[in-house]
Amino acid sequence: MSLKKDEKVDILLLGSGGREHALLVKLAESPHAGKLWVAPGNGGMYQLAQKVDLDPCSGEQVAEFAKSHGIGLVVVGPEAPLVAGVADYVRAAGIPVFGPSGAAAQMEGSKEFAKKVMTRAAVPTAAYKSFTDEAACADYVRELGGPCVVKADGLAGGKGVVVAQSTEEALAGVHDCFNGAFGEAGNTVVIEEMLEGPECSLLALSDGKTLVPLATAQDHKRALDGDRGPNTGGMGVYSPVPILLDGELDQMIQIEQKVIDQLREDGTPYSGCLYGGFMLTKDGPKVLEFNARFGDPETQVVLPRMKADLIECFLACDDGTLDPAMVSWDDDWAVSVVLTAGGYPVKYEKGDVITGIEDADAMDGVFVYHAGTKLGDDGSVLTNGGRVLDVTAVATTFEDARNKAYEACDKIFYKGKTYRHDIGIKAIKGRERL
Ligand code: AMP
Ligand code: GLY
Repeated sequence: MSLKKDEKVDILLLGSGGREHALLVKLAESPHAGKLWVAPGNGGMYQLAQKVDLDPCSGEQVAEFAKSHGIGLVVVGPEAPLVAGVADYVRAAGIPVFGPSGAAAQMEGSKEFAKKVMTRAAVPTAAYKSFTDEAACADYVRELGGPCVVKADGLAGGKGVVVAQSTEEALAGVHDCFNGAFGEAGNTVVIEEMLEGPECSLLALSDGKTLVPLATAQDHKRALDGDRGPNTGGMGVYSPVPILLDGELDQMIQIEQKVIDQLREDGTPYSGCLYGGFMLTKDGPKVLEFNARFGDPETQVVLPRMKADLIECFLACDDGTLDPAMVSWDDDWAVSVVLTAGGYPVKYEKGDVITGIEDADAMDGVFVYHAGTKLGDDGSVLTNGGRVLDVTAVATTFEDARNKAYEACDKIFYKGKTYRHDIGIKAIKGRERL
C-alpha cells in the first residue's frame, strides 16, 4: 500500500520507554503523520501524542480503540504485548500493525522456540539443550563441568540469564529458574555453551520476506564503569559498531535473512523489527538471542541516523511491500548515555524534578529521549523510573558524538542523577582491530 501525497495516518503507539519516545519522534517527522496516540507513554511523549488509558497487553482493548478511533497504524513497542498476540487482534480487525504475530514473537517469547528455528535454518548459535526437569538439567550441567549459560525459556525482563563461570554458579542458576525466580518463564530451562567475544546487535525490518538491515549498535549492560556492577536494562549505546571486521556485517545480515526465510517456511511469517543479538566469536558472528521488537536503548541511536519515512516503512512491513530503497543512511555516528536514578537497578527514588532538558535538546545534533519520566501537575518533568533519560548525540565522528552526548548530560539536573562515564571507550580502543 503506498500512501497518497497528502494522506494522513492516525497512529496508536504502545509502550512507555526511551525506545517509544524515539519511535514517536520519528513517526511524527513523517509528512503522513496524522493524530498520534500513546498507551501509556511517558512525560516526554505527551507533547506529540495524546495519552490513551488502555491495557497495552489486551488485544481486545487495543483493537477496539483502534477501530473506534479510525487508527490507520498500530505500532507495538515492547515485547509483552507482542507475545500476548496483540498484533493478531489488530490484524483480525483489518487494521495495519507494526509487529509480529504472537506465534512469530515466540522468537523472543521462548528461547527454546528460537533455538529450534535457528537449528532448522542452520545459523550459527551456541550449542544448547533444553530441560523441563530440574534433576536432569542439573545432571547435564555437572556433566558439562565448567562454564555455561543458564537461561529461563520465557520472558524475564532481560533478567533470566546466568552466565556461569563455574558448575556451582550454574547449578544455583538452574535451582533459581526451576524454583520460581522468573515465574513461569523458568519452567523450561535452556543450557548453552558459553561464547566469547564482543557483542553486537543488528536491528532489521522485515515484511516476512524481504529483510532491510538497519544498523548495528552496542549496548552497555552493567550498571558501573568498567562493565562492573549488576546488569541493567542498558546504560548507554552507540551506532554503528566501529569494531566490526570485514565480512561480519554481511554474515549477520545473512543469518537474519535465513531466519526470516525459515519462519515463512514454517508458516509463522515474521513482520516487524527483528533484533539479532550476536557474539563476534573468532569463528564469526553467532546468535545469542533474537528479540521481536526494536531494542531499548539501541533504537535511540539507530533511528536518529536513519533516513526514512517510518510510517511508510511500517505499513510496508505489514502489507508485504518492504523495499530496501525506502531506507538510507548518512555516514554519521550516534552515542547515547542513559541518565539513571541514584541506586538503579536496586533501589531508587521517584518524583524528583528534572531541569535543563531544553538546554541539552537545543544543542546541535542532540536528542533527549524520555524513559522513566512523568509530568507533574504544574507541567514540570519528574523522574518516574530507574532509567530516566537517554541523551543521544549524532555527529560526523564517533569522538564528537561521544563528547557532545556527555556535554549534554552536564546540562541536565535532578537529585541522584547517575550515569556511566565510559560509554564508547571500548569502541575507541578497539579500532586497532580494523
Ligand atoms: P540473552 O538475553 O540471551 O541475550 O542474554 C543476555 C546476555 O547474556 C547477553 O547479552 C550476553 O552478554 C550473555 N549471554 C547470553 N548467551 C550467552 C552465551 N551463550 N555465551 C556467553 N554469554 C551469553
Ligand atoms: N538492549 C537490549 C534489549 O532491548 O533487549
